[in-house]
Amino acid sequence: MAAPQRLGLLYEGKAKQIYATTDDDLVWMHFKDDATAFNGVKKASIRDKGEVNAAISAHLLRRVEDAGIPTHLVEVVGPRDQLCHRLEIIPVEVVVRNIAAGSICRRLGLEEGTALSRPLIEFFYKSDELNDPLINDDHALMFGWAEAWELAYLRHAALRVNATLCEFWDGLDVTLVDFKLEFGRALGKGQTGRILLADEITPDGSRLWEKNTLRKLDKDVFRRDLGDLGDTYRDLFARIFGEAFHADSEA
Ligand SMILES: Nc1ncnc2c1ncn2[C@@H]1O[C@H](COP(=O)(O)OP(=O)(O)OP(=O)(O)O)[C@@H](O)[C@H]1O
Ligand SMILES: [Mg+2]
Repeated sequence: MAAPQRLGLLYEGKAKQIYATTDDDLVWMHFKDDATAFNGVKKASIRDKGEVNAAISAHLLRRVEDAGIPTHLVEVVGPRDQLCHRLEIIPVEVVVRNIAAGSICRRLGLEEGTALSRPLIEFFYKSDELNDPLINDDHALMFGWAEAWELAYLRHAALRVNATLCEFWDGLDVTLVDFKLEFGRALGKGQTGRILLADEITPDGSRLWEKNTLRKLDKDVFRRDLGDLGDTYRDLFARIFGEAFHADSEA
């Protein structure tokens, strides 16, 4: 069968563009250099970010797949471009926390860096207008965002992903503090109802601290003006792939 071709833009988000393809069951995901924080209030273009994120995400999604959690990634088709299963995104963002940082510190008055005795899972309603509010299972069920079995699967899959990623980052002397996942329902023929891990696993949606120094290697560098995000991401690429980052593509 001929390789699917990119068609029209379906959706443009803050970090990526999603295109239709000649195969109805697939979308074409393009990673941009745009960085945003505080729900789009702070914005910048960071050279190479899209390409670094695309490479990291593909690498981590494949590891997760190997650990038994199916993902939407079908094929890497360019340095910033990936063919993925077209999904109905479940509007429940799943956050896994190993150490307290970010919103949980403000909400519960915890000090950043407080170790959690086991991985903590939080659900957020995916809504830019509402600033992605924290929800519980009852909200998701009440408003029809997900079914009970789906929430149970989201928890199971998120913990499995956490175990896989913790081991991966540990091996690179990096602590996985927290991260966000999105899931979706497969729409393709014979796939109906199947849940796949969607979107991306990148330092945009994770907190990564260098062990020993506690230096931040994630988007907090941009949120909190702690240094150059491009340099941070290129360094992270080198740490993962064992070679310096060289750009292959324009944004
Ligand atoms: N396999 C998929 N099929 C369809 N949509 C997807 C798939 N994977 C991810 N998406 C959606 O594509 C969009 C990715 O764009 P981006 O990450 O730039 O969005 P965003 O600005 O973070 O906005 P959003 O608040 O919608 O996530 C997200 O809305 C995400 O839910
Ligand atoms: Mg996003």
